[in-house]
Amino acid sequence: MYKFTTLTALCSVALAARPFLNEPDTGIELILGTDNLTTLPPLSNVVGLPDFDFIARQHLAPENYTYYRNGAAGEWSYRNNLEVFQRVTSRPRVLVNVSQVSTTLGTTILGQNFSAPFFICPCARGEVGNVNGELGLVQGAADGDILYIPSGYSSTPLGELAAARVANGSYEQTMWPQTYLTSNDTETQIYFDEIAAGGFSAIVFTIDSAAAGVRHRADRFGAGSVNTAFDGFTWEYYEKLKTMTKLPIVLKGIQTVEDALLAVEHGAPAIVLSNHGGRNLDTSPSSLEIAYEIHEQAPQVFNQTEVLADGGVRYGSDVLKLMALGVKAVGLGRPFMYANIYGTEGVRHAIERLKFEVMNDAAHLGLQDIHDVSMKHFKWAPNFWYS
Ligand SMILES: Cc1cc2nc3c(=O)[nH]c(=O)nc-3n(C[C@H](O)[C@H](O)[C@H](O)COP(=O)(O)O)c2cc1C
Repeated sequence: MYKFTTLTALCSVALAARPFLNEPDTGIELILGTDNLTTLPPLSNVVGLPDFDFIARQHLAPENYTYYRNGAAGEWSYRNNLEVFQRVTSRPRVLVNVSQVSTTLGTTILGQNFSAPFFICPCARGEVGNVNGELGLVQGAADGDILYIPSGYSSTPLGELAAARVANGSYEQTMWPQTYLTSNDTETQIYFDEIAAGGFSAIVFTIDSAAAGVRHRADRFGAGSVNTAFDGFTWEYYEKLKTMTKLPIVLKGIQTVEDALLAVEHGAPAIVLSNHGGRNLDTSPSSLEIAYEIHEQAPQVFNQTEVLADGGVRYGSDVLKLMALGVKAVGLGRPFMYANIYGTEGVRHAIERLKFEVMNDAAHLGLQDIHDVSMKHFKWAPNFWYS
């Protein structure tokens, strides 16, 4: 009887769902406390990207923090985006000479060189976190030499973003403005021309937002989305858009292997696997799951177009897991919006911390070059999602 009750108790502990932790406990509360941080703590306290979330929650007004933090409905996708990475474990190889790995972080995306395989995702309303809107993100991305994709709903107007671009050697900083578009072709043409005239080198068309996101947390705080229309866009419309600009139009928000194949068929130069940070359709898959599905069912896609991905990326090992499947570069949204509360310094710090993690995690995996990361370096359970 005693054995049976002990066994039952152990089983119920094992079967109980682990509580969700927005930021895993690594001791930040012991250093910063849990009272409102009216004054921002020094960046030396920020040792990893989740720390920016902790600080943002203590520092921003609740409705402002909620605007960045919220996800769709019960936020199952938001949580899954974060947790899915922990369901894939590493297979580190040892006694490999990794002394040069830190020199291999550089990545080319659509023919443009960057210092790291990660970028800043488009996130609306920079002013919610910083009175200078997106300017800290522009300068921080320039300093860290990474790609920044400003949102079509940025607080800083496109002209000012163009003017803020920083010269990088002989060429201007690379940024790709994101857009949702309306069905008004005249407006779209004006916008595309403005983007080209601003010296930007690609357009990112977000296609995962066919309607308003159902956002319980946001509605509670009056912090809902600005994008509320029902879309009428189709693949044929994408063909038409391509005739309206010479710039490559990247498709952001691919969530199935079928649509990845359609994107290839329609000549998309690059796609972003994304469920919009879990903000649009609850239970939509994380980009790790989407990349896995493509890897299993149509791996040629990774050679036929440049595959980027975002959602829930917080650690160096997350970046490497996506790259192992064939993803070229990985985007982060919320961590950079929280970092931008500090302005340029915060964004730069976030980039430095993530570079540090990517190169050190790569070394621990036994990689001489981060671009050699592959399926061999991780353990993929046959059906790892929602397990
Ligand atoms: C506050 C906020 C605003 C966003 N605004 C946009 C937007 O204007 N356009 C867009 O394509 N995606 C937008 N996104 C989605 C991001 O580009 C990206 O897909 C997502 O944030 C990645 O997940 P992560 O925040 O967990 O890194 C937004 C995300 C957040 C958090």
